[in-house]
Amino acid sequence: MLDWIRRLLGKPQEPLTPEPPAPLAEPGPPVGASQPCDQPDPLAAFLPFQIRPLEAADLSQLIGVFRDSIQVSTAGHYDQQQRDAWSRAQNHESLISLLSEGDTVVAEWDQELVGFAQRINDYINMIYVHPDSARVGIATLMYQHLEDGARVEGVDALSAHVSLTAHDFFQFMGFDSEGEEQADRNGVTLTRHRMRKSLVTN
Ligand SMILES: CC(C)(COP(=O)(O)OP(=O)(O)OC[C@H]1O[C@@H](n2cnc3c(N)ncnc32)[C@H](O)[C@@H]1OP(=O)(O)O)[C@@H](O)C(=O)NCCC(=O)NCCS
Repeated sequence: MLDWIRRLLGKPQEPLTPEPPAPLAEPGPPVGASQPCDQPDPLAAFLPFQIRPLEAADLSQLIGVFRDSIQVSTAGHYDQQQRDAWSRAQNHESLISLLSEGDTVVAEWDQELVGFAQRINDYINMIYVHPDSARVGIATLMYQHLEDGARVEGVDALSAHVSLTAHDFFQFMGFDSEGEEQADRNGVTLTRHRMRKSLVTN
């Protein structure tokens, strides 16, 4: 807990450059970090960020979180050419289109979008956290919301294609690697894990 607070206090306070909101959908009510389902989390009162469904006003900030998390957070595992190919695999429009499917949540901190995650049926399709907000539990809370939704829908197991950078996070969430494979992004090869987590208790 002390580490968590220390990291929290170390977060830079400068806001990201705001962009005009994109009109797409009506804003929905915030879910709150504490309310992935119906169970209030007593810790939520102490969290500076909240997890809530994607809203239209978030869309302009998504691509920045996507690109910054790839360029900065994955630098220990992928070289510049790989990071460029990965981060250019989506543009603003394609990301918005992709995130209109399935269940997408965002993390908001000081009115900034600092992360987003998406589940499509039994597949965790995306999870990205801005490097300035890393390692304070944001991905954990977003993932828990998605897993709760999967359990409510009766999903037996979740799978994901996981970057080398995200492997330890997914392992921490209870996933096992089923092996490495090569993914192609604009003609550039990136190694990733296939990972799976059973939601059925024996
Ligand atoms: C993977 C990612 C989403 C994790 O986000 P995060 O908010 O920093 O993760 P959390 O703070 O919830 O981490 C929870 C636990 O996961 C593990 N973990 C998370 N990131 C880790 C890392 N880079 N190295 C080792 N363990 C890590 C740790 O056990 C951590 O607990 P701790 O901080 O108490 O040690 C983030 O690093 C990211 O956006 N990476 C770049 C994009 C990417 O690879 N996305 C996945 C595509 S498949």
